[in-house]
Order: sequence, then structure tokens, then C-alpha cells
Amino acid sequence: MSAPITRVLVTGGAGFIGANFVHLTRRLRPEVHITVLDKLTYAGDRASLAGSGAELVVGDVADAELVDELVARVDAVVHFAAESHNDNSLTDPSPFIHTNLVGTFTLLEAVRRHGVRLHHVSTDEVYGDLALDDPVRFTETTAYNPSSPYSASKAGSDMLVRAWVRSFGITATLSNCSNNYGPYQHVEKFIPRQITHVLTGRRPVLYGAGRNVRDWIHVDDHNTAVWRILDAGETGRTYLIGADGELDNRTVLAMILEQMGRGADDFDHVADRPGHDLRYAIDAGPLRTELGWRPRYTDFAEGLADTIAWYREHSDWWAQAKERVERRYAEQEWG
Ligand code: NAD
Ligand code: TYD
Repeated sequence: MSAPITRVLVTGGAGFIGANFVHLTRRLRPEVHITVLDKLTYAGDRASLAGSGAELVVGDVADAELVDELVARVDAVVHFAAESHNDNSLTDPSPFIHTNLVGTFTLLEAVRRHGVRLHHVSTDEVYGDLALDDPVRFTETTAYNPSSPYSASKAGSDMLVRAWVRSFGITATLSNCSNNYGPYQHVEKFIPRQITHVLTGRRPVLYGAGRNVRDWIHVDDHNTAVWRILDAGETGRTYLIGADGELDNRTVLAMILEQMGRGADDFDHVADRPGHDLRYAIDAGPLRTELGWRPRYTDFAEGLADTIAWYREHSDWWAQAKERVERRYAEQEWG
């Protein structure tokens, strides 16, 4: 689409997907200079960037002066920074509005001023949910129908990007990806929460009946797709990213219990999340056929085993956050 990218600004690069993007880029494109802009909220950790060679600037993506200065120095911006957890958005939506909407607006104004390429990272949750027994999957033309303050704020951010492309002619692409798993994921999220429950002698917890379906993709597969879109994506286009990984929560938990040597009944059902989306499913056809992308992790059991091994070996990375997160969950009416 444009000249090769040699200097990239990664917003939210100290979070789960952003940090994995930085490490992947270091491995696959060592010539690319990476600057990370991250506020280091509860979800960001500078330790996740250790050994990556990235320059970390601690700051807010909604800080117009700082963002302008950083955008002026790069060829491209990959925008991961967000408040990302549905449960948190139900207890306090306000940081979701600030970061996901005002932050994206701030970035859009900077890339517009400097003519810099933007890739906006978003979620399939903007489409709402699907019925459990319906074979249909989300496509790039599915109508937006977000359920939670998190997904509504991400939907709004997508709309801002589309409007800036149409009205101001910025060079931007968007992607909406399904649920990610892998190393460096915060222990508030489903898979790492259950793994670290087992590792700390707790019983895993399933919201409601556990029949909700998520379409799991390994974080490295998400990030190779982002690079494919940066290299060859069409301006203004939305690409859906998914790896045909639909599983219900009960099945995922059963696999975790089995791989960690626990009994099949060694978990508790807990009160369900309000407004809990039933099913997400992605049709990533255009990404595969037009851009030639393929996921590497086609066997979820193998990716899960790698992820469990990573959490076993990195308790120093998650132990403190675990205690803080579980105190927060204990104050919620569900979970
Ligand atoms: P995360 O919560 O692990 O990381 C978010 C990062 O953004 C953290 O490092 C945090 O410190 C930083 N941040 C938050 N507010 C900021 C602000 N105001 N200014 C600068 N930095 C700020 O999230 P994640 O799971 O890595 O998700 C990254 C992106 O991918 C998000 O945009 C999310 O919507 C999207 N996404 C996530 C998934 C998933 O399964 N996790 C799936 C699809 C899309
Ligand atoms: P989560 O990781 O929060 O991602 P999202 O809400 O963005 O899909 O949750 C994934 C699924 O797991 C979701 O259906 C809620 C469920 N869940 C549990 O059953 N137990 C838990 O402890 C958590 C955190 C989530």
C-alpha cells in the first residue's frame, strides 16, 4: 500500500497484544524501530517489553501534545491502547470513554496533521453476539450492535476511524479480531485467570452455565495478520481476523483442567456477567483469500499447552496482579 515501514509507534504496547506485537516485530523485522506509548494502567507492565529493544514512552494516548510529537517521528501507528475488559466496563465505564473514544480521536487528529499511516486494532465484540445454534459468522458487513460499555466504546472508535478516512482522507486500516490467548495476557481474562487459579490452589470459575462460545486465536496469529494488513491492506478497509477456533467456555476449561492434571469437576459455576454475549464467530475469508494470511496455531490444544507452560514459568510476572484482580472480582456481584 505504501513505502516500507521503518519507524512505528505502538500505542498500548505494554499490554497483552501490544507487547506480543513488539516481540514479534523484533523477531521478524529487526530493522523496524519501535516506540511504545503506554499509560501503564493496571493492565500495562514495562516488564512485558523486557529484551524487546523498544523505546517506552509513558503517557496517555489522549494527551494531544505528546501524541502529536510522537506521531511526527514515525511512518506508521498501530493503535492497541484501550481499556479492554468487559467486566471492568460494567463497574466503571468512564476510562473506556476516555481512552477508547477520546484517545482514538486524539490519535486520528495527529495522523491527519502529519499524514501518517494508521492501523486501528479492534474487536469482533462491536457486532454484538450470535445465537448458539446459528451457523452464521461475523463478516466485515455485519451491522454494529455492541452490548457492553467496552464494546460500545470500541464500536465508537471504529466509527471515528472510518469517518476520518472518508472526510479527511487519512490512510488507515481497521481490524476486528476474535478472543486472543497467549503469553502476557492479564490475569483478569478468562484463560489466564483459570490457569493461575489452578497454580495458586484456587478452584476455576465458570460464569453461568459456561455455554457461551468464543472464537479463540493465538496472539501471534493476530499479530501476523496485523503485519499483513500493514503491508498490503487497502485504505479504509476493515479486515476480520479469526482462526476458526470456536469453543464454548466449558470445553476450554475442561482442556485447562485436563492439561493441568486436575479433575473434570474441579471448578465452580458462579453468577453470570450481566448482558453476557452468547457467541462470537469470525469469517476471516477476505484476509485469507485477498491477503494470503494463514494462522500458525491451528491446534488450540497445542497453543493452550504453550500458554499454560508460560504461566507456570512466569509467576513473577503475574503473582502481584493476581491478588489485586481477585480482590476486585470479590467486590463484583458476578464472577
Ligand atoms: P490490555 O488491556 O492487555 O492492554 C491495553 C494497554 O493499553 C495496556 O498496556 C494499558 O496500559 C494501555 N492503555 C490503557 N489506557 C491507555 C491510555 N489512556 N493511554 C495509553 N495507553 C493506555 O489489552 P489487549 O488485550 O492487549 O488489547 C489490545 C487491543 O486489542 C485493544 O484495543 C482491544 O480492544 C483489542 N482486542 C483485544 C482482544 C483480546 O482478546 N484481548 C481481541 C480483539 C481486539
Ligand atoms: P473474557 O476473557 O473476559 O473475554 P470477553 O468477555 O471479551 O469474551 O471472557 C471470555 C469468556 O469467559 C466470556 O464468555 C466470559 C467467561 N468467563 C468465565 O466464565 N469466567 C471468568 O472468570 C472470566 C474472567 C470469564
